[in-house]
Amino acid sequence: MSVDFAGLKLSNPVFTVSGTCGYADELSDFMDVNCLGGFITKSITVKPRKGNAAPRIVETDSGMLNAIGLANVGLEKFIEEKLPVLEKFSPAVFVNVAGQTIDEYAAVIERLSSESAIAGFELNISCPNVAKGGISFGRDPEQVTEITSAVKKAAGEKVLMVKLSPSVTDISTIARAAVEAGAGALSLVNTFTAMVIDIETRRPILANRTGGLSGPAIKPIAVYLVNKVYNEVAKERGIPILGLGGIRTASDAIEFILAGASTVGIGTANFIEPGCAAKIIDGIRDYCAANGIGSVKELTGSLLEKEP
Ligand SMILES: Cc1cc2nc3c(=O)[nH]c(=O)nc-3n(C[C@H](O)[C@H](O)[C@H](O)COP(=O)(O)O)c2cc1C
Repeated sequence: MSVDFAGLKLSNPVFTVSGTCGYADELSDFMDVNCLGGFITKSITVKPRKGNAAPRIVETDSGMLNAIGLANVGLEKFIEEKLPVLEKFSPAVFVNVAGQTIDEYAAVIERLSSESAIAGFELNISCPNVAKGGISFGRDPEQVTEITSAVKKAAGEKVLMVKLSPSVTDISTIARAAVEAGAGALSLVNTFTAMVIDIETRRPILANRTGGLSGPAIKPIAVYLVNKVYNEVAKERGIPILGLGGIRTASDAIEFILAGASTVGIGTANFIEPGCAAKIIDGIRDYCAANGIGSVKELTGSLLEKEP
């Protein structure tokens, strides 16, 4: 079950992803966090953020919208209170980083780049729920180049993974810009900008008006986008992909791996069944055993095209 991911050796390909599993100790009541291959923190910004006004989540058919607005404890409190907890866990820890300016992203990464508990950074240039920064960086290839090369220096030896938005015209153009500017891995997808309206009040349900759609509803689109980025950008350059979006079962995760992902991320499913990541790891292992697959690595991108 072990995989190589941008130079890291992971015990298995399963991560829990940003914003859905806190800073790790929140998940410990439900599962042995040490069984994960990797763990990604909530987005961290230089200063603490309260996030958007409530309501900031709403359930939809097969999914949910969130407009949390990057609420987080901020860099200093993260270092004082959260990092010591993460240090005790064995999965590769990625700190997800957000900011309103390139300097803010670089400041967080620079400050954390010497922390031995951190394996890498996930650059959140795809948050749809903030007025400044977030997705505005991730939609424009020139800005992606600029921010990726600026933080690449700050990250030093740590892995730099760039998290892509699905709400763009051509995701491969953005992926290419990130990789050519130094990203060592790509994660996709973040949430899709979306809206739910209360027909009685005739107002949007979320105080932020719009939010990001996640959960099983987005899975087929996310699988398609992973396959597109794998074929058009990542495969030939040897860049590993963390595939995510609506994964709830081992079978969902295997779809992403066949499409080209080296690792997979569990997000919204943590709210439905906290601890499901452990079952997903077991399910992938069972699938490999049942199909005579010696190493899960062999499955990445092994999708067969339909016979004519
Ligand atoms: C409540 C909530 C909070 C999130 N917060 C963040 C965040 O802080 N940073 C980030 O990069 N992604 C964040 N995400 C996006 C997830 O990491 C993931 O990309 C997205 O939900 C799609 O995966 P899923 O369908 O498995 O949830 C959040 C998602 C949810 C549902």
